Amino acid sequence: MDKNYYITTPIYYPSAKPHMGHAYSSIIADFFARFKRIDGFDVHFLTGTDEHGLKIQRAAENKNLDPLDFCDQISQTFRDLSKTLNLSNTDFIRTTEDRHKKTVQYLWAELEKNNDIYLSKYSGWYSVSDEAYYNEDEIIDIDGKIIAEASGSLVEWIEEESYFFRLSKWQDKLLDYYEKNIDFISPKSRRNEVVSFVKGGLKDISISRKTFSWGIKVPDNPDHVIYVWLDALTNYISALNYPDTSDILFKKFWPASVHLIGKDILRFHAVYWPAFLMAAKIPLPHKVYGHGWILSGDVKMSKSKGNILDPIDIINTYGLDPLRYYLIKEVSFGNDGNISKDKLEDCINSDLANNYGNLCQRVTAFAEKNCFSKVPKIKNFNNDDLVMLNKFKENLEKIRQEIDKQNINFYISFIVSALFEANKYFNDQEPWKKKNDKDRLNTIVYTSLEMIRKISFMLYPIIPDSIDRALRIFNLNSKDINFESVASHDYLKAGNNINKIDILFKKIEKKDD
Ligand code: ME8
Ligand code: MG
Repeated sequence: MDKNYYITTPIYYPSAKPHMGHAYSSIIADFFARFKRIDGFDVHFLTGTDEHGLKIQRAAENKNLDPLDFCDQISQTFRDLSKTLNLSNTDFIRTTEDRHKKTVQYLWAELEKNNDIYLSKYSGWYSVSDEAYYNEDEIIDIDGKIIAEASGSLVEWIEEESYFFRLSKWQDKLLDYYEKNIDFISPKSRRNEVVSFVKGGLKDISISRKTFSWGIKVPDNPDHVIYVWLDALTNYISALNYPDTSDILFKKFWPASVHLIGKDILRFHAVYWPAFLMAAKIPLPHKVYGHGWILSGDVKMSKSKGNILDPIDIINTYGLDPLRYYLIKEVSFGNDGNISKDKLEDCINSDLANNYGNLCQRVTAFAEKNCFSKVPKIKNFNNDDLVMLNKFKENLEKIRQEIDKQNINFYISFIVSALFEANKYFNDQEPWKKKNDKDRLNTIVYTSLEMIRKISFMLYPIIPDSIDRALRIFNLNSKDINFESVASHDYLKAGNNINKIDILFKKIEKKDD
């Protein structure tokens, strides 16, 4: 079995500092990367910044900065955010790096060689904010302002000599590919969207610009810079050292397992990118997953709308892991969602502090008093114990399958109900009344400790730092985590120390309480 896993986030425009939407994609990608790692996969996790094009050039001009100096500054804030979010990315790519530029020019030459590029003239609408061309039927006039309907961003008319990519030539091959690879575009609603767009007819697309210079030059015609989306998409393979297909990174990690993106950039990833790859005879990624948006009110949070929430502010107030937990649990993955401080506080108080934190505290305190702070030795489990413990074993394969469908909702619901049941079990079994039946008392404590251990292992991809602290109970740390072992009933060894730990999550005093 192929035990390599390659997940990517979009590479973000460093036109302004990152916001909660960027944090969202990155945290979700980190969740998958960490899950796959504890399940024994070799994981490559790529993120980075998309630094060329008119959008960035203009943002730099506004600050009176040279575009590269401007990008150096803002790209660094994205890199810093990766650290703040505790991302386990294995690379961070900038499209201004030589390793990337080389690959883009090579890819261009390949497309040209295969007769997929021709020189002509473009006239039409362009949104600098989206770095996207729009057809007449995709724009609307609102009070004299011409905007792209899908994004709401302003478009401008451009007319200039331009190279074109023969996208039209790939229409049937794309449809055929979507048909044969039913999960290539996920979730299903996104797939349907793309299929009907492609069925509507694909026109060749402009892939170079001549009226500004901030970009990668077209080989043999330096008057043109390469369209920023052709440039940006290529990051997924330039980071693997393509065209050196004998390179270990490329061999292990291409085709990518998942390109995780927001639904705003679906067309680029599910239509243009596979067409470029087919044209260059490069295998296609396994999946493009377009997640929903973090909203502000009922519109997409975005820097161009100026309605952003800074993840750093939330982290400073509540801590990182509560934010990660909230985004994974409360934003139903695949759909749009909101960030509400009220619900975030509920997550901290009821899920993290009560259901998880308190279970850890109660059981360890009980073990300290009644089992000499050691993992007790047990004789046999009864049915109540086994019902609890077996759930993990019975669902092991199912959890893996659901993760491969990006079904985060399944994963988190499994944990939430396991937590509920573990707490209920400890209450119902009343070990404090079993002081005259040491065997039973020990078995209840052992079962409860095993439940904490299994749940902690599963929580690790969501709240890694807190789990590192929680695992001190067992003298373990996150490097010991192995998903397979959540199926085991006898992972904890009798006689090992049980350590008391500090409070994992502090309850928030709610203003309205
Ligand atoms: O599009 N909710 O960069 P970008 C959820 N450079 N996710 C959001 C979001 C929101 N409100 N706002 C942004 C670009 N995102 C290109 C990508 S890839 C080869 C090039 C996330 O800075 C989401 O993943 O506009 C979205 O697709 C991405 O940030 C867009 O970031
Ligand atoms: Mg955007």
